[in-house]
Amino acid sequence: MENKIVAAHIGMKFGMSHVEGAMHYGAEIAAICDCDAEALRFAGERYGIPEEKRFTDYKELLRDPRINAVTVAVPDQLHKQISCEMLRAGKNVLCEKPLALTREDTEQIIRTADETGSKFMVGQICRFTPAFEQAKKLIDDGVLGELYFVESEYAHDYMKLVDNWRSDPLRHGVIGGGCHAVDLLRWLAGDPQEVFAYGTHRLLPTVPYDDATVAIMKFGDNLMGKVFVSTGCKRDYTMRTVLYGTKGTLICDNTSPTMTLFTTDEEGVTQPAQTLDVEVNNHNAGREFEVFADAILHDTPVPTDAREGAKTVEVCRAIVEASVTGRIIRPDYTF
Ligand SMILES: NC(=O)c1ccc[n+]([C@@H]2O[C@H](COP(=O)([O-])OP(=O)(O)OC[C@H]3O[C@@H](n4cnc5c(N)ncnc54)[C@H](O)[C@@H]3O)[C@@H](O)[C@H]2O)c1
Repeated sequence: MENKIVAAHIGMKFGMSHVEGAMHYGAEIAAICDCDAEALRFAGERYGIPEEKRFTDYKELLRDPRINAVTVAVPDQLHKQISCEMLRAGKNVLCEKPLALTREDTEQIIRTADETGSKFMVGQICRFTPAFEQAKKLIDDGVLGELYFVESEYAHDYMKLVDNWRSDPLRHGVIGGGCHAVDLLRWLAGDPQEVFAYGTHRLLPTVPYDDATVAIMKFGDNLMGKVFVSTGCKRDYTMRTVLYGTKGTLICDNTSPTMTLFTTDEEGVTQPAQTLDVEVNNHNAGREFEVFADAILHDTPVPTDAREGAKTVEVCRAIVEASVTGRIIRPDYTF
């Protein structure tokens, strides 16, 4: 068992949030890496990382046996290759969402994590968002009663973001970004057994996939759900989420300082709305890294391991398939 976290970070755009998470945790930062020299320089100067700890080739990280925690924040298409190389070298890995874009890649990451026994965590950040953590607690405490309908949305304007690897036909908006809403509902309500979806393509003409999708899902006999994904929307980013239960309803998102809770009295009569204060932190990288590091140091399971990440991708892929074929799709969770 390790007694100290020695971290290395690959991908210095969104991946800078992992450097901050590791610093917040008190980890030693042994290396940062980006194949783009300017991105590397910017991050190095920003966080005071000396030049001898900056690398343009991620394979250089494999030379340092002290590194035991690697974060991977590169284009989704590279998650499998880099994560698996790190796992095979005995490193523990925190990789960005979505786990991968294909069933084959998700299966290979699962296999490699199983074979190496290293910790593998996929960064489903919504599970660390304060409002959603509070929603999970209200559900677990029975405040909402039994859920019968859950909905979440991923509304994020990608207009300035898509002239790159995000335009890959495999990187459909539902998989790349919508995986946040799908993973959130899986965490709060369980695995959907059937999905159906419609899509439209009006706002991002250069991407080869729909830019808005609505999916309805059957979780069980008495629980249904809906996910809406818009990557061309004309509004600020948010993930509005409503959770309807037999005893109450919660309306929340990841960008507001309050959430609204309705509960009922003993006769089931709805009481006036309560406003609950909540910290706004929609990329809680500090908490995410803490959970990853604790799993390494105490050899405990990570909450979002490779199978969890793969199940979320599987639902996303089912949604895309349903929207293209017009058929109900049953996700295959046999990983
Ligand atoms: N959790 C979240 O909410 C969230 C938000 C944004 C992005 N992401 C994910 O983070 C990952 C990175 O996204 P981004 O927005 O930073 O993308 P980006 O394209 O802005 O940056 C990717 C960086 O990786 C570098 N890179 C590419 N190939 C590399 C290689 N082989 N070795 C080293 N560096 C390499 C690039 O030079 C670039 O600096 C993606 O998987 C994305 O889906 C997650």
